[in-house]
Amino acid sequence: MPDPAAHVATACGKIILLGEHAVVHGETAIASSIGRSAEAFAQFADHTRLRLSDDSGTWVAEQGSELDQAFHALLQVLHATRPVALDARIHIPTRAGLGSSAALGVAAARSVASLLGLHPDAVRDVDAATAWERVFHGNPSGIDVAVAARGGSIAYCRRLGARPVPMTAPLMLCLVQAGPRASTRSMVEAASRFLAAHAAQGAEILAAIREAVAAGTAALQTGDTNALGKAMNDNQRALRQWGLSTSVIDMLCADALRTGALGAKLTGAGGGGSVICLAPGRENHVLDAWRSRGFVGRTIRVGAG
Ligand code: PMV
Repeated sequence: MPDPAAHVATACGKIILLGEHAVVHGETAIASSIGRSAEAFAQFADHTRLRLSDDSGTWVAEQGSELDQAFHALLQVLHATRPVALDARIHIPTRAGLGSSAALGVAAARSVASLLGLHPDAVRDVDAATAWERVFHGNPSGIDVAVAARGGSIAYCRRLGARPVPMTAPLMLCLVQAGPRASTRSMVEAASRFLAAHAAQGAEILAAIREAVAAGTAALQTGDTNALGKAMNDNQRALRQWGLSTSVIDMLCADALRTGALGAKLTGAGGGGSVICLAPGRENHVLDAWRSRGFVGRTIRVGAG
C-alpha cells in the first residue's frame, strides 16, 4: 500500500502586483505569491470525484459543473486511465482575485501526478493546471498558474513564460475587497473589446503599463518602495482609462494615498474584486481609513517564496 501522505501536494495563491490584463495581450506582468495555499490529496477510487473544503464547509463538485469539467480536463492531460478521487482544501479566500483556482489546479496536478507515479515535471503540471484554468477563464494568460507553481515573485509574459524577480525582502501590502468580484472571463472580454474599438488609446494604455511594469520590476529588485508605489499608481491610472476600475476601487485607492500609501491599485480582473496598496509603516492608518467606510482590509506578505 503506498503511503497516502506521499500524494499530498500544495500550491500558493497570488496577487498581481503590476500588469494584469496587459499580460493577456502579450505584455509582461509581475505576480507574487501570498502566504496562503491550496492542498490536494489524490487517491484511486471507484469513480472520479472532487471534494473541496474551505472555511465555509465541504462540498463535492457536481457532475458536469465547471469544477468537475476542470478536474476531468486536468486528468486528461495527465493521462489518468483509472478513476481518481481528489480531496482538496483551500486556505486562500475564494473569489477575491487571490489565485485560489490556479493554486487548486497546480496542487491537484501535483497530487494526481504523484498518485500516477509520474516523475516530477513542473512543465507538465503547469500544462495540466492550465487545462483546468481554461474551463473557468476561457483565455487565461497563464500568470496565475505560473506563480502558483513557482512561488516568490515572477515576471511573466505569454511568449517567454516566467522568470523569477529576486526581491530584497518580502513586501507587506494592504488588501481590501472593493465589492463583489466580476468574472475574470467577462472583464478580459470587455478589455479586449475596448482595445478593438479604441486602437490608438489602447496602444497608449498598453505602453503606459509596459513602462510601469519595467519601473516596478527594477524597484522590486533594489527595494525602492517609492518607485514601486509610483509604478502602482501609474498602472492604476492606465487601468482606469481602460475602464477596468470602479468608483469604489478609485475611492479606496484615494483613501490609501491620502493616508500615506506610496501606491495603490486594483489587483486581478478589476470591475470589483481586490485593491492592494503599499504603505510601509502606515498600514494601520490605511486599514483604519478603509474601515471607517465599512471596508475591512488586512495586511498580506507577498513574494516570500
Ligand atoms: O482572475 P484574476 O483576478 O486572478 O485576474 C487574472 C488576471 C488577468 O490578467 C485579468 C487575466 C489573465 O489571464 O492574466
